[in-house]
Amino acid sequence: MKDEGRPNGNMFLEKAQVLWNKKISSAYFKMGLKWSGSFYDAKPGQFVMLRIDNRIAPLLRRPFSIYRIIEGKKGVEILYRVVGECTGILSEIREGESVDILGPLGNGFSLPKKDVRVFIVAGGIGVAPLVFLSSYLVGEKGFAASSIKVFLGARSKDDLLCRDDFTSLGLEVAITTDDGSEGETCMVTNPVEAALKKTRPDVIYACGPSGMMKCLADMAENYGVTCQISMETVMACGFGVCLGCAVESKDESKYLHVCKDGPVFDSRDVRL
Ligand SMILES: Cc1cc2nc3c(=O)[nH]c(=O)nc-3n(C[C@H](O)[C@H](O)[C@H](O)COP(=O)(O)OP(=O)(O)OC[C@H]3O[C@@H](n4cnc5c(N)ncnc54)[C@H](O)[C@@H]3O)c2cc1C
Ligand code: FES
Repeated sequence: MKDEGRPNGNMFLEKAQVLWNKKISSAYFKMGLKWSGSFYDAKPGQFVMLRIDNRIAPLLRRPFSIYRIIEGKKGVEILYRVVGECTGILSEIREGESVDILGPLGNGFSLPKKDVRVFIVAGGIGVAPLVFLSSYLVGEKGFAASSIKVFLGARSKDDLLCRDDFTSLGLEVAITTDDGSEGETCMVTNPVEAALKKTRPDVIYACGPSGMMKCLADMAENYGVTCQISMETVMACGFGVCLGCAVESKDESKYLHVCKDGPVFDSRDVRL
């Protein structure tokens, strides 16, 4: 695999060999990508832009959070849901083929001091960057598992992802589904609020549907807790050139760009 260069700062464009592309449930896949070492310093919350080689469409790259750094720092793994054209093509890629990868991109999560109390709240596929965050906190930073509580929500049992990733780190996981097929039948924000009433964390990290993040941002404000959210928008370039990923700042005079200013924001800074 050849390093094709550094378009900007520490961001690399490479051809990455697909190490695996495994279907893990109905519409979800995990793809391992070999890289030459450029992602060594990738931080939880950063993402990559992928484009499929030798295919005419889709021309644009698509953003995916880094879900895991492969053991031995051999590459990155992404976790994705098939929703449209690019993810459909991605799901058909075989081991040994290659994809164009650009990254690591964006600002990751601001990491807390050791052993402050952390809530991690994931909705659906939003869990991907939070698995990387949890393993970084426990594995690299030496956080006690008891200082982190995970809230995992999904539409149904089939959409519940990564529970084992968290439990294997020794983390307590509260599960909710909209249809009651697993865990409590409610929104994931319900057990978060119940837990906030008992113990306030120092920080909440969240990624999921916009409604979930708005609700968490409001709760965090009410309870006086810092909340960092990882946002998703449609992206064309991924590094601040097309301006297609603008979101409104709370400061009405300006827009923020999810690819460059985010994707992780303090929930007090963006209009949700
Ligand atoms: C920073 C960031 C990180 C992301 N991380 C992941 C991840 O780890 N795993 C994962 O599965 N997906 C992730 N996404 C979303 C992923 O990029 C889109 O699902 C993908 O681009 C869809 O491409 P497609 O060609 O298959 O779908 P398209 O054909 O382009 O679209 C299919 C449908 O999905 C909607 N859609 C497309 N992109 C988005 C988006 N960004 N947000 C919400 N709806 C969208 C479209 O409006 C349309 O309804 C992330 C997005 C961002 C911005
Ligand atoms: S995706 Fe182009 S500026 Fe953000």
